[in-house]
Order: sequence, then structure tokens, then C-alpha cells
Amino acid sequence: MNAKIIGTGWQLPAYEADNDYLATIVETSDEWIRERTGIGKRHLVREETTTSLAAGAAKKALENSGLRAEEIDLVMVATITSDTDTPSTACRVQGELGALNAVAFDINAACAGFLYGLHIADAFIRSGIYRNVLLIGAETLSKLLDWTDRSTCVLFGDGAGAAVLTASEKGGLIARTVGSNGGKWEVLSCMGRPNQNPVCKSSASAGYLRMDGQEVFKFAVKTVPACIEKTLQDAKLSAEEITYYLLHQANKRIIQSVAKRLKQSEEKFPMNIEQCANTSAASLPILLAQMNEQGRLHPGDKLVLSGFGAGLTWGACILEW
Ligand code: COA
Repeated sequence: MNAKIIGTGWQLPAYEADNDYLATIVETSDEWIRERTGIGKRHLVREETTTSLAAGAAKKALENSGLRAEEIDLVMVATITSDTDTPSTACRVQGELGALNAVAFDINAACAGFLYGLHIADAFIRSGIYRNVLLIGAETLSKLLDWTDRSTCVLFGDGAGAAVLTASEKGGLIARTVGSNGGKWEVLSCMGRPNQNPVCKSSASAGYLRMDGQEVFKFAVKTVPACIEKTLQDAKLSAEEITYYLLHQANKRIIQSVAKRLKQSEEKFPMNIEQCANTSAASLPILLAQMNEQGRLHPGDKLVLSGFGAGLTWGACILEW
């Protein structure tokens, strides 16, 4: 049995902050941000939380799938911005949906989180352990950002996307590759709460997201095409046979570089980075759900999904729609 996506949904916070607004906070400009990244604006939470965005996207995905919440066997939320250290966002979403026959847990793999989630869903469905899986990518990255650091705060946004997967005899997920390199964890990181136990007395303060942008850029333009090429080989498909390449929306220049390397037209690489910026684990499911809503996906289409992020982590998969 293959894992097939039968429903998708997305939710973004109501508030939109464009590049001109950020230029009133840090020394930057619309021109600089657009030219280097392709980002025009991002959505930022005010009232919303990671949990509320995740639940909103999940409700739409469930409705789109035709399944009831009680029919879900597994709820996974890919996130690095859970509202609570414990319980997981997945447990809170499970409660809100009433998906009480499911097991629920979070996945921490940063911007590759949704890819890792697909990999896990595929393994559980293939093995016959679970039949119906709700996979969500949800982030409020804005709370991890140092809003005085122009090199990071302009890049990210908040949002959530979700997919319902079920066991299917044909189509669905046909090949996957995931990887990690913990030796490079410092390239992109965010330190957690410092330990205040009486014998440790850490003087550190809670961390903000720190990144060596150029290292991440080099890693992405090398690893993403290699990972996609390997996945294509595993599926015995050529790059031409792929209808769309949905890449993690981190930087338009990274996406263009991957298109060039794979010798594919940029039209095959849909983007929403201009409106959403980098929403980490939420970026791929938001893009997928928006394309589904727009009627751009048709039965038999072959889609590559690929992401990369802190860890370092990366992954790619091929889905037959
Ligand atoms: N506005 C204006 N200037 C900025 C700026 C901003 N928001 N951020 C940085 N700069 C400045 C720098 O201070 C530097 O100035 P200097 O030359 O006077 O020192 C100059 O712009 C060039 O900085 P640099 O870091 O070399 O720019 P870049 O071309 O590498 O672009 C990134 C920076 C972050 C856009 C780019 O490295 C990138 O996209 N990396 C990948 C990041 C990513 O995708 N992360 C998420 C992974 S999931």
C-alpha cells in the first residue's frame, strides 16, 4: 500500500507585513529583500498561535479529504515553534479536532520537517500499522527571530499547511530520500531555554535564530538537486516526467539554481515566497494546498517535493497525485 494525499488545507495569520514595513524597523529595503530572496511580504501572528494555525489548516485538510476526525490513526505536526514545550502541538491539535483515536506527536526537523513527516507517514502506512494520517507543518517563526537582526528577520513568516494521507493501492508516494548532517548544526540554530538549576546557574539567555546565510545557501544549491536526482533515479523517472517541483520556499535564487541544475523550466517550480516568505516546516504544505485549491493538480501528475533546513536536514520525495 502506498501513502496517498487525499486532502490538503492551509492557514496564514491575518496580519501582513510587507518589506517597506520592515524597513521601518531595521536598515533594509524592499529592493534588497526582493533582489536577494524574492520575498515581498510575510504574514505574522498577532492573536494566532502555532496550535491555532495548525488546527485551522488541519480542519480544512480533513474537510477536503472527506474523512472524519475519528478516522485518523496518526496526527503529526512538523514544527520547531511549538507553543508548549510539552505537550506537543500534535496532541493539542488532536484534542481540538477530536481525533481521539489517533496517536499524536511532533517532528523537529526544521524546514525539512514536512518531508520527514511524509517519510514517517509512508513507513507507517506501508507497514500496515496505520491507515489514515494527518500531517501538518505549522510555524510561528516570528517568535524565534531577533527583530534587530536584518540578516535573519526579513526572511521568515508564520503559517500552517496540512495534508491527509491514506493507504492506496496505486499512486501516492513512490520514492523518497531524507538525510541529516549533525556535524553542521551550528550553521543554522536557535538555542533553547538556559538551565537555571541550582548547580548549573547558566548565565546564557534564551536564544534567537542564528544563521550563516552563505553556508546555508551553498548547502542548499548543492544538496537539493543531488537529493532530487537520487530520488528520480530510485523511481526510474527522468526530470522531464515531473509535472511540478515544489521546493521549500526559502529563497527564489535557490529555487532558480535548482531548476537550472536539473535543466527544467522555471515554470515547473511554483512559488509563493513573494507572499509568504520562508515559513519553515509549513512552506511545502502551504504551497501544495494552495495549488490543490487552485485546481492545478490532476490525477497522474508526478510531483517532486523537496526541502532543507537546520540540522542540517534535507529530503525529497516523488508523489503521484
Ligand atoms: N537588508 C539590507 N542589507 C542587508 C540585509 C538586509 N535585510 N541583510 C544583510 N545585509 C547586508 C549585509 O550586512 C552585507 O553588508 P556588507 O557587505 O556591508 O557587510 C550585505 O548585505 C551582503 O550580505 P550577504 O550576507 O553577503 O548577502 P547574501 O547575498 O549572501 O544574501 C541571504 C543573504 C541571507 C539572503 C542569503 O545568504 C541566503 O538567502 N542564504 C540562505 C538562507 C536561507 O535560505 N535560510 C533558510 C534555510 S531553511
